Amino acid sequence: MSTAKSDVKRVTTNTLRKMKVNGEKIAMLTAYDFSMARIIDAAGIDVILVGDSASNVMAGHETTLPITLDQMIYHAQSVVRAVKRCLVVVDLPFGSYQGNSRRALESAIRIMKESGAHAVKLEGGADVQESISRILSAGIPVMGHLGLTPQSIYKFGTYTVRAKKEAEARQLLSDAKLLQKLGCFALVLEKIPAKLATEVSGMIEIPTIGIGAGGDCDGQVLVSHDMFGITKEFQPRFLRRYMELFDDMKDAVGRYIDDVKSNDFPNETEQY
Ligand code: KIV
Repeated sequence: MSTAKSDVKRVTTNTLRKMKVNGEKIAMLTAYDFSMARIIDAAGIDVILVGDSASNVMAGHETTLPITLDQMIYHAQSVVRAVKRCLVVVDLPFGSYQGNSRRALESAIRIMKESGAHAVKLEGGADVQESISRILSAGIPVMGHLGLTPQSIYKFGTYTVRAKKEAEARQLLSDAKLLQKLGCFALVLEKIPAKLATEVSGMIEIPTIGIGAGGDCDGQVLVSHDMFGITKEFQPRFLRRYMELFDDMKDAVGRYIDDVKSNDFPNETEQY
């Protein structure tokens, strides 16, 4: 029995399933730290993904590959402390689940135990089915991720749209069916043709959450730093920016510097 005390009705994996049945779209955003997660949860987001995109936007790496399990757990702990309502899903980082289902289970257990998150996400289909099954067998909900899977960037060689060709599209459809059969509760579809995402979303009962996969997915996800305009150079077609925070924050820092240098800050009322 849960001893958690909260008046807020929490989003669960079941909630997401019902949202799909009722045709209510699922909104998901990434977050990696307490303050950002607090804002995003307070705004009413359904799911926060502690994505391994933290490797790019928090640590400045070129790819998602370098981030470690310990670092993902640190980010997840910070997010979980902030959240009152939404479901928190954490990415299993590169090297923590591929090719060894026992290590996959140990990694997922560490995330759940040490961060208090509600589910894990991992990239791939048939190639990682043993890892998925083993994690699920421990009662840990798993979100799948197909299409552009950034942990395989050196296999793809480019971040371009995936599954445009018949054979890759067929493989993706088969992987989507498999992930549902294994027991995944939802599926991220990244950067695939909208028509294919429509077909997947209609074919499976678990919700699909798209990023660059068109409007027929059951939900959408963006990297919060992209939608806030903190990352400036990254401008793919699928990205809608809701703010230009890089420019606004840079401007604020400039004004602060001016105020300090001109001895305007602090003034009489800003001291003891
Ligand atoms: O790590 C991440 O932010 C992701 C999303 C792009 C889906 O996996």
